[in-house]
Amino acid sequence: MNGDITQSQEWAELAKHHDELAGKHLRELFAEDPGRAGRMTLTAGDLHLDYAKHRATEETIDLLVALAERAGLRERVSAMFGGEHINVSEDRAVLHVALRMRENAELVVDGQDVVGDVHAVLDRMSAFSDRVRSKEWRGATGQPISTVVNIGIGGSDLGPAMAYEALRDYADAGIEARFVSNIDPADITGTLAGLDPATTLFVVSSKTFTTLETLTNARVARSWLVAALGEDAVSRHFVAVSTNAEKVAEFGIDPENMFGFWDWVGGRYSYDGAIGLSLMIAIGPERFREMLSGFREMDQHFRTAPFKANMPVIMAMLGIWYTDFFGAETRAVLPYSQRLHRFPAYLQQLTMESNGKSVRADGSPVTVATGEIFWGEPGTNGQHAFYQLLHQGTRLVPADFIGFAEPYEDREGMHDLLTANLLAQTSALAFGRTAEEIAGEGTPAEIVPHKVMPGNRPTSTILAPKLTPSTLGQLVALYEHIVFVEGTVWGVDSFDQWGVELGKKMALDLAPALTSDEPPTSFPDASTEELVKKYRELRGR
Ligand code: F6P
Repeated sequence: MNGDITQSQEWAELAKHHDELAGKHLRELFAEDPGRAGRMTLTAGDLHLDYAKHRATEETIDLLVALAERAGLRERVSAMFGGEHINVSEDRAVLHVALRMRENAELVVDGQDVVGDVHAVLDRMSAFSDRVRSKEWRGATGQPISTVVNIGIGGSDLGPAMAYEALRDYADAGIEARFVSNIDPADITGTLAGLDPATTLFVVSSKTFTTLETLTNARVARSWLVAALGEDAVSRHFVAVSTNAEKVAEFGIDPENMFGFWDWVGGRYSYDGAIGLSLMIAIGPERFREMLSGFREMDQHFRTAPFKANMPVIMAMLGIWYTDFFGAETRAVLPYSQRLHRFPAYLQQLTMESNGKSVRADGSPVTVATGEIFWGEPGTNGQHAFYQLLHQGTRLVPADFIGFAEPYEDREGMHDLLTANLLAQTSALAFGRTAEEIAGEGTPAEIVPHKVMPGNRPTSTILAPKLTPSTLGQLVALYEHIVFVEGTVWGVDSFDQWGVELGKKMALDLAPALTSDEPPTSFPDASTEELVKKYRELRGR
């Protein structure tokens, strides 16, 4: 829909419904309708979703689905998959879904054979990965590669780093991957520590190949390598992933060793393409393609399942429900899997860079809150840190719990204990403990209020058979599409990120004020002026 969706009949009906439902406790909802536990579940690929523990009834879901229809979600899905320029502020198609289309699929956009191009790059990546993994590709001294260092930031780091951690059990070629992103020198120092230049391969990953952090880290890495092995070693130890062949050549990397992608892949949506090269080298092309098939399975579900049975749609619309009707500010993502410890950080960029917008695609201001704040840590560590606030604090924090039936490797029944914790938490959050129950245990009256667990805290539980390349792909695609649905309802452009540009430019403008011998004469503002002076003083300048 064009314009302000909050003025629609569907929005008004949800507001009214919220007034009726907000006072109800999940205990009441379950007492009135015990069958909801069996009904409010969904399956997509290997993922099972339980959404019964939400402050929602079937009527809520119907109203939310009606709002999605009203927002024109159907047309938007077709527009994205069809390659229309739905990234309006940059006039670009949004085709990360093409990165995992089958080879025989057809998609020509703006005169470009998108699927053909995607598979040509995938094949080059596979061939290169196989050469590195089989030790055919050798470093300048003739030794095989034992460590791949990905140099990138944002979407050129978080995706492959998260996925490598998630799938490290599948890294079977004896090649370790490391990731460096921050311009803080401590990051590259830590990353290079203990590495042998002769067996290290750097993958410089940058869509634009202009990002200060990445190019600075790449230069430092280059000097480190050249100091040990000489200038001629660069071509055996540096490859690039970028859309910008010119800048890659300028940096001194042979375009033969560059893996490309296209402006229609957003950075935060890119690790299932060439940005995933370091991951592919570690786990192998076959596993990487299994991951792509997982993405594809979720794409297919998203594209074809009726909205009421559509996992990304239901999870997204519940996000809208809490954000805009209950006033929730954040959503916790709590993977009960140590391997997914970088998943919340990855989702932060995916969701917040996409939907942290306050104007709609047509430039008009939004009139409701947009952009959920995503955060989280793996269970059970989070339980011993911040869950207190989730259980008894004043804020409403809807949470996504993610668990797996099979561990990669169990030890003395630990995995069942992990899962028991997940289930206990979602139950306690939903149903809590009443004052009567606590008093009934003989608790002194003055202590009872401290022990009351209010409950009524909504959660989704996603269960999958096992964390595999395929289920990881399904999970990531699930959240990509959640972002898309929410962005559609809010009417924002989920695929630009102008908000991060100003800071980048200002940092470049400010750098000389910190480093030059001459005291600077101009500052962006008075507070920054004082801080620059203090910094120079502390640095003895
Ligand atoms: O943080 C802004 C951003 O543009 C992200 O969107 C992107 O993933 C990141 O910088 C890195 O950009 P590049 O891949 O061009 O180096």
